[in-house]
Amino acid sequence: MKGGAEKVTRAKAGQATDRAATGGAGSPIVVLVVHGPNLNLLGEREPEVYGRTRLPDIDKELKNLGRELEMKVETFQSNSEGGIVDRIQQARGKCDVLLINPGAYTHTSVAIRDAIAAVNIPVIEVHLSNVYRREPFRHHSMIADIAHGRIMGFGAESYSLALRAARTIAEESRRRSG
Ligand code: DQA
Repeated sequence: MKGGAEKVTRAKAGQATDRAATGGAGSPIVVLVVHGPNLNLLGEREPEVYGRTRLPDIDKELKNLGRELEMKVETFQSNSEGGIVDRIQQARGKCDVLLINPGAYTHTSVAIRDAIAAVNIPVIEVHLSNVYRREPFRHHSMIADIAHGRIMGFGAESYSLALRAARTIAEESRRRSG
């Protein structure tokens, strides 16, 4: 019992530290958007599956929507698992919500799952395609059970839907932390 109580206290202390570093109630909500492997080829890559919108246009649209919703949006793409892990680690204490489309790493990466669990930032898992309408190996996600929620199947719009949801999540979590 004692061990359990200690664990809870430590977890809470960790959360408080992370939140304090984001700047608190008056500071702008910061959302980090992470795109995984091959998403740099959006627009050219299997357009019948992923659509014709290119990644720089998705990022631009998210930054514009962020301004409208009074949030700061940072974007990042990497084809490497380690690059994604590094970027998630850097977000610790600096970002309110993480939007991530881990691409193919969704289905395989324990390292990305562990990085998400380590930084204690609410996560929205995003996919352009509805993975359940596709091959069975895409049906499993390594992060689904630690994500706040998942949005998929709306093409590039999946990201903007997720960004709107991110605002609600950030507001709720700031309200809870007073
Ligand atoms: C994806 C789905 C993944 O299965 C695939 O490997 C991707 C893109 C999507 O956004 O639909 O690269 O994450």
